[in-house]
Amino acid sequence: MSDIESFKQEERVFNPPATFVNNAAISGMEAYRALCAEAEEDYEGFWARLAQQNIQWTKPFTKRLDESNAPFYKWFEDGELNVSANCLDRHLTNGNADKTAIIFESDDAKVSTITYRELHERVCKFANGLKSLGVQKGDRVVIYMPMSIEGIAAMQACARIGATHSVVFGGFSAKSLQERIIDAGAVAVLTADYQARGGRQLPLKSIVDDALALGGCDTVRKVVIYKRTGGDIAFDQNRDIWLHDLIDGQSAECAPVAVGAEHPLFILYTSGSTGKPKGVQHSSAGYLLWSMLTMKWVFDIKPDDVYWCTADIGWITGHTYVTYGPLATGATQIVFEGVPTYPNAGRFWDMVQRHKVTIFYTAPTAIRSLIKAADADSNVHPNKYDLTSLRLLGSVGEPINPEAWMWYYKNIGGERCPIADTFWQTETGGHVISPLPGATPMVPGSCTLPLPGITAAIVDDSGKELPNGKGGLLVIKRPWPSMIRNIWNDPERFKKSYFPPELGGTTYLAGDGSIRNEKTGYFTITGRIDDVLNISGHRMGTAEIESALVANPIVAEAAVVGKPDETTGECICAFVVLKRTRPEDGEAEQIAKELRDWVAKEIGPIAKPREIRFGDNLPKTRSGKIMRRLLRVIAKDEEITQDVSTLENPAILEQLKHVK
Ligand code: PRX
Repeated sequence: MSDIESFKQEERVFNPPATFVNNAAISGMEAYRALCAEAEEDYEGFWARLAQQNIQWTKPFTKRLDESNAPFYKWFEDGELNVSANCLDRHLTNGNADKTAIIFESDDAKVSTITYRELHERVCKFANGLKSLGVQKGDRVVIYMPMSIEGIAAMQACARIGATHSVVFGGFSAKSLQERIIDAGAVAVLTADYQARGGRQLPLKSIVDDALALGGCDTVRKVVIYKRTGGDIAFDQNRDIWLHDLIDGQSAECAPVAVGAEHPLFILYTSGSTGKPKGVQHSSAGYLLWSMLTMKWVFDIKPDDVYWCTADIGWITGHTYVTYGPLATGATQIVFEGVPTYPNAGRFWDMVQRHKVTIFYTAPTAIRSLIKAADADSNVHPNKYDLTSLRLLGSVGEPINPEAWMWYYKNIGGERCPIADTFWQTETGGHVISPLPGATPMVPGSCTLPLPGITAAIVDDSGKELPNGKGGLLVIKRPWPSMIRNIWNDPERFKKSYFPPELGGTTYLAGDGSIRNEKTGYFTITGRIDDVLNISGHRMGTAEIESALVANPIVAEAAVVGKPDETTGECICAFVVLKRTRPEDGEAEQIAKELRDWVAKEIGPIAKPREIRFGDNLPKTRSGKIMRRLLRVIAKDEEITQDVSTLENPAILEQLKHVK
């Protein structure tokens, strides 16, 4: 039975425990429905009330939603604020100043903590340092840093002076970094000498050097380096500066720069269905508002919680649920430098036990790999650890299959912790469909119901809303404050990708398929409708990998498809035609390895194809279109039962069955 079938038939329902419901921010379904009703009756009034109550404005807004230039929506446009002040300064006077903001645990398990007062000071010094380099409001700054207090401080420092940051995940290559630096027009790159993960060291600074040496990054004036390991690096006296030298002697006060509500807080690149990543641009006020509300509603954050989101700051989850949401709501959070399997696969559970974590948020891939590890080695089984501090669990980034959900619920949550299966995207800024832990009855594998104010629906290709039980396209009908504002440098692509004319031009198209349960109306996400893969919860465009492959001088043509994988959700399978003749066995393996390494250099190790298959050609229709649906079947090693009569070259199918 396919996963989609098993989701459809999932009948198990788990109610939130009464003790949780009684103390929850949104307590019971009545409270949820009341908020939904408020949003329905007066949509703009609902959001305006929340924006007034949650954000500290330096200039209050009078305008609410501006739809005059749809789909370039604006929220609270004439209001002004500073996001960093909302995350830090507010805690200097509300009793949180000496509260621990971050408990940092390094790869080698050294723990350090920082209070809100200290973090404020560190961010101010960093911000003053950036100012001394001439970085100012409206400039773009690329951040290529490891999970660290400094990485978070770097983002906050940019926000403090009104510079727009663009964080690039440390797993991306020099080439990917260069493309992002150029597209963003960054004036500075903030990095570290090395990144320490899983006992290994990744030379971040040297990758930055390589990126800049590739050329075209003329806007970059300075490279700031956080000394993480003290390992060797090349140092350009004119361009490079150590972070400790930059902040040395800087004032611990830096007045936050007020920006308009719509000022771009950050750009974050993500994969789409063409070869070029999209620079998703987010606002300041709307984004901040939703990061706070979802911390309160979905994570039910309370003053005594020890909250841990395992995502890297290089992804949207690390932006909203590490750098902004938890700080704006005064949480104490764990920031972890390493990986779940080092020094062994008990690391997460050991950390939950040692730090008495109460809220834990991770990806299904991590859960699935830890299930496997626990099955193989009882020493890293969660039952060896005291996990009773946990009260709430979360899942993000990909569908969680009911079996993994049950394991998480039983073995990690002790059948007492609700699980928030949060559906959202880089573009949505924060959760959009998720159970509320003190209200929504949970069904394994379903992200359940839209959050209050989120008008999610399922439509057909013409935009007609479909009844429950009918699968279709997931859309959000009305603009909401934390939504994507633009694609950096590419407004036409923004309109085309997310607001297609077939759906009326103003409805947000998520890019996922979905189906609602006939009885409950619960949503289940059935997967992307475009050529975007989800590898371990990370988005990867097939077109990006294809263009990386064909950029290799020996490759004539390439087609990339996803193949289901038990642990990573999907894995990458590439079909390649070389300019020379098709290689035979031993040689094919060697070339496959070279191509894998090539993709790692072009994009990053996360984009390496798991499998490469060589053919004299690819299966094409007579008009020359590659038949990807056939490639998907071949990748799964299944028999082709589809009609292949439109195929120009059916003989090719046999060749492509062989994996290298
Ligand atoms: O396909 C959906 C999947 O991840 C995509 C968004 O990826 P990204 O922008 O990298 O953001 C990931 C972190 C929010 C979506 O289009 N996805 C995300 N969460 C879920 C999910 N699929 C099913 N269930 C989820 N809870």
